[in-house]
Amino acid sequence: MIYRIIILVVSVLLCGHLKAVDYEYKTITAPRVLTTEQADKAAENYQKYCALCHGKDREGYANDHAPSLKSKQLLQSGVPHSILRPLSYGRVGTAMAGYLDEVGGPLTMDETWDLTYWLFWQESYDRLQFTEQPVIGNITKGTELYAKHCIECHGKNGEGVNAPALTNPSALAHNKDEFLRFTIREGRDGTPMQAWKNLLTSAEVDNLTAFLRSKADSWDDGKTVLRAMPTKDQYILNPDSEDPNFELKDNKYVMAADLHAALRAGKRLMLMDTRVPSVWQRAHIKGAIPMPYYTDVDDIVSELPKDVAIVAYCSCPRAAADYLVNQLRDRGFKNAITLYEGIFGWMNFGFPVMRAEGLENNMTSQH
Ligand code: HEC
Ligand code: HEC
Repeated sequence: MIYRIIILVVSVLLCGHLKAVDYEYKTITAPRVLTTEQADKAAENYQKYCALCHGKDREGYANDHAPSLKSKQLLQSGVPHSILRPLSYGRVGTAMAGYLDEVGGPLTMDETWDLTYWLFWQESYDRLQFTEQPVIGNITKGTELYAKHCIECHGKNGEGVNAPALTNPSALAHNKDEFLRFTIREGRDGTPMQAWKNLLTSAEVDNLTAFLRSKADSWDDGKTVLRAMPTKDQYILNPDSEDPNFELKDNKYVMAADLHAALRAGKRLMLMDTRVPSVWQRAHIKGAIPMPYYTDVDDIVSELPKDVAIVAYCSCPRAAADYLVNQLRDRGFKNAITLYEGIFGWMNFGFPVMRAEGLENNMTSQH
C-alpha cells in the first residue's frame, strides 16, 4: 500500500515536471532598436494606415473586429513574422490588406520591418523562441473540440465571425504550429480570446492545433502582375450617359443590386475602391478607381466631379468607404455614397469583379 502511494506521488510529480518542461519557452534577444527617425515614421505610418481598424492605441476592435496589436502574447510570439507577413501581404479574403509596395501597397520593405519592430517596442515583453517542429495531434478529436468551443467566435468553417479567420490560407501559410498552439494555450490578454490551458488538456490543445493545420492548402504569395493605375480621364464611367436614380438607405447607402443595375444600364457614375491598392490589384469592381482610405482628400478634391454620383466601397463592409465619403461630403460632394454590402457582399450576390490573373481560386475559396 505504502509503495503504491509513493509510486503515485512520484509519478504525479514527474508528470507535472515533464509538462512544465514541455512549455518552458526560452526568450530570444530583442529586435534592433529603431532610430528616432525610424520610430517617428513608423508611428506616423501606424496612425495613417492601421488606426482605422486596429485603434489609435493599438487596442484593436475599432473596425472589422481587427485584433489587438499590443497584447502580451502576440508580441511574445509574433515578432517578426506573424506580424510582418500579414502586414506585408495581407490575409486574402479578410479586411486585412497587404501594405508592401511589391503587392501594390504604400510601404517599402524597410518601413514594414520598422513598423513591426515599432509595435514590439511600444510595450515591454520578451520575445519567445518557438520550435519549427510540427505539433502532432488527433485531427478528428480536434474537429470535435473546435465545433464545441471555437465556432461561436471563429465560425463554422474557421472563416471568422467576430474574431480572426483561422482557416485562412494566408494566415496558415505564415503562422507556425507553435504560434497557434501558444495562442490557444495562452489566449490574448485584453481581448475575448481566453487562455484555453485553463479549460483544456495539453493533448486537446494539440488536437486543435493539428485540426487547424489540416486546413492549410498550398498558398503562396503568388506575385501579382500589377495593373496600371487608371488615369484621370478614366474616372467617370459612361460620361455621356444619364445619372442613376438611386434610392438611398439612410440617405447615404446604395444597395449592391441597385448599383449592379445602374452599371448594367450604362449610367454615368464614378466608382471608388477605398481599400489598399494591393487588394484593388487582386480584384475590384470593373471601372473602380483605387482611392485608398488614407488618401489626403484635400489633395484630390480638385480632380473629382461634384455633379456625378461617386460610389465608394471597401471590404469592411463600410468603415473605410464611409471614412472617405464623410470627408467628401464635408467638402461639398453631396453625391458621394457608400456601397452598403461592401465588395464581399457584392461578390456573394454573384456580381462580377475583375481579377488579377491566376487568383480566381484564392479569392473565391473563402466565400
Ligand atoms: C469568445 C470568442 C472566442 C472564442 C470562443 C475563441 N476565440 Fe480564438 N480568438 C478570439 C479573438 C477575438 C481573437 C483575436 C484576439 C486578438 O485581438 O489578438 C482570437 C485569436 C485566436 C487565434 C490567433 C489568430 C491569429 O490570427 O493570430 C487562434 C489560433 C485562436 N483564436 C484559436 C481559437 C481556438 C482553437 C478556439 C477554441 C478552443 C478559440 N480560439 C475560441 C476569440 C475567440
Ligand atoms: C480595414 C481594416 C484594417 C486595416 C486598415 C488594417 N488591418 Fe490589420 N487586420 C484587420 C483584420 C480584420 C485582421 C484579422 C484578419 C483575419 O481574419 O485573419 C487583421 C490582422 C492583422 C494582423 C494579424 C494579427 C494576429 O493576431 O495574428 C496584423 C499583424 C495586422 N493586422 C497589422 C496591421 C497593420 C500593421 C496595419 C497598418 C499598416 C493594419 N493591420 C491595417 C483589419 C485591418
